[in-house]
Amino acid sequence: MSSNKVHLAIFASGAGSNAKKIIGHFNHHPGITVSLIVCNKPGAGVLKIAADHNIPFLTIEKETFFRGNAYIDELRAYNINFIVLAGFLWKIPEKLIKAYQGNIINIHPALLPKYGGKGMYGSFVHEAVIRDKETQSGITIHFVDELYDHGDHILQVTCPVYPSDTPALLAQRIHALEHEYFPATVEKVVMEKKNAGAL
Ligand code: GRF
Repeated sequence: MSSNKVHLAIFASGAGSNAKKIIGHFNHHPGITVSLIVCNKPGAGVLKIAADHNIPFLTIEKETFFRGNAYIDELRAYNINFIVLAGFLWKIPEKLIKAYQGNIINIHPALLPKYGGKGMYGSFVHEAVIRDKETQSGITIHFVDELYDHGDHILQVTCPVYPSDTPALLAQRIHALEHEYFPATVEKVVMEKKNAGAL
């Protein structure tokens, strides 16, 4: 019965490959369903993914997100009780964090606390890692608080960085890790909360 399920919203600004993996993972899942895609970029690839999977989407704009209701009423109208950020580039306003306290998670394509914060997204992250001659990078899945890339860590997974790497090559390796670990981690966190009666 879908009313007993946890309803996820995925927030994404880009291509949406992680969103796609998460949608696939929860297809026919007994306890969790992806009910909404939220996107701040008209024309972003993730919107086509939503349409292909018959998932409703909400295209949001800055004024309402940062100075209005942060779309909390709309999220409630879709019964959303957990938010997954998968390549969403805007900072989450305090109002929304309070409304979903402890129930928002993000994935970052590096080993936080290094290579995080404002401006550290996409290829900027991988360029910085390579420029600093790091020998490993990876992914961080973490709870979201008021600061960029700052909340408690849930999982980190590492991968090597090779001297011959380009940002594009490293990005591919990181994306593969994200696709492997993010859906299952979302499931684990959500089901633990659900079973504890916290969702
Ligand atoms: C991922 O690398 C994620 O870590 C970062 O943005 C990227 C999104 O990729 N926050 P995609 O849109 O899921 O393909």
